[in-house]
Amino acid sequence: MIEDVVAAEVLAQSEAILEADRPVEERLQSLMRYLHETLPHYHWVGIYWLRGDDLVLGPYVGPPTEHVRIPVGRGVCGTAVAEGANQIVRDVRTRTNYLACNLETLSEIVVLIRHPETGKILGQIDVDGTQVGAFDTTDEALLEAIAERIARLVVAHRS
Ligand code: SME
Repeated sequence: MIEDVVAAEVLAQSEAILEADRPVEERLQSLMRYLHETLPHYHWVGIYWLRGDDLVLGPYVGPPTEHVRIPVGRGVCGTAVAEGANQIVRDVRTRTNYLACNLETLSEIVVLIRHPETGKILGQIDVDGTQVGAFDTTDEALLEAIAERIARLVVAHRS
């Protein structure tokens, strides 16, 4: 749950970080660090990029994970891509198709990063929480707005 006033501030700060005059990878790493530090329920926060039929781990902050490459369809992350839908998992223990990053994680949210014009899936923002039900639609709305800015940035720097 994120209050409107907090979400507005986090989005403004995220935009400033993404507009900084630094290499794109550094901006994204810095954004992950900012979200991790600012939102206490964001225990692990990272980006996976869709490369072919796999999700490949990009910048992240939190405990190291062995899941650096996740096939589409596997885990919460791969399910988001297979279904073309964001995922909010209240209690990861209820999911059979879950890939544990660390034992402290009890809930998870995945928000897709889509190409601004085509809507094609470019990747996703993945966040883990240590409380059951840590995330709701207020987190989803904020992460969707951030995902849109990330998409615009990476597409602009690709061409
Ligand atoms: N839990 C994810 C794997 C990624 S880690 O949370 C960082 C999943 O089930 O896809």
